[in-house]
Amino acid sequence: MPYVTEENLTDVVLDRWKDIPDPRLRQVMTAAIKHLHALVREVEPTQEEWFAAIQFLTRTGQMCTGKRQEFILASDVLGVSMLVDAINHRRDSGATPSTVEGPFHIPDAPEIAHGGDMAKAAPGIACFVTGKVRGLGGEPIAGAELDLWQTDGEGLYEDQRNVQEPWMRGLYRTQPDGSYLVRTVAPISYTIPMDGTIGELMNRTSISHMRPAHIHFAVTAPGYHGLVTHLFQKGDEFIETDVVYGVKEPLIVEFQKRPAGATAPNGEKLERPFYIVNYDFVLERAAAAAVAAE
Ligand code: BEZ
Ligand code: FE
Repeated sequence: MPYVTEENLTDVVLDRWKDIPDPRLRQVMTAAIKHLHALVREVEPTQEEWFAAIQFLTRTGQMCTGKRQEFILASDVLGVSMLVDAINHRRDSGATPSTVEGPFHIPDAPEIAHGGDMAKAAPGIACFVTGKVRGLGGEPIAGAELDLWQTDGEGLYEDQRNVQEPWMRGLYRTQPDGSYLVRTVAPISYTIPMDGTIGELMNRTSISHMRPAHIHFAVTAPGYHGLVTHLFQKGDEFIETDVVYGVKEPLIVEFQKRPAGATAPNGEKLERPFYIVNYDFVLERAAAAAVAAE
């Protein structure tokens, strides 16, 4: 084995790390070493800078709790979450595109009847979201499950409210004709958490730390690929600068304003103005073996 020099060090390390029986781990470690060495060769950090980087990563890990995941936030703001999502969801162009799940999904949302209100006492402008879930061939999908979560009208998720009961989330099912109807309040644009290491980093840039107003959906139906996505409010001022790169053109929808006194899609007459959002989700059929694995 040659003694190391600045020039041969990467090759020496790669040669040592080829001794991994698991081929996938070998591929990952080889790529990690190549890219990490290339970064260091390009940047040429001082010893102090390298230690600062290690301290930054240490503090990022120390921020993480059961409710807070600062590394996911790092992955989100660097566009890595969206890249992993894109690579893993190469769907037919007619299907509804996926987008990043984000850190605020809570499993086991309460089941809510067709047209029922998932916002309850939450502040915000009433909003009805309605449409169908269908397959690529146009067939309606009955019994599809829609798991929704979003901010309230003040921009806060359940995790950010001190509440004991579920807040701004619910599980709906499609009717025999594939239709769904949700009563909620309109979300608003909000900032990603800025009180951690990622906030510190963002504050040293002039990049917007805002997400445009959106509602999260996880849509599942037997025999179809599951879909995790959002619907974004058309016209939101942050639509083109989403800090986590989650916006895709087909996911931008009009929040149609209705005046006070108008009849809502659930038959109610509302005393205040409200919104209607119409959207059909299109799922791609999955091969039998793939469905079992999902
Ligand atoms: C969200 O949409 O909930 C979200 C996604 C990525 C980072 C922060 C929040
Ligand atoms: Fe969100």
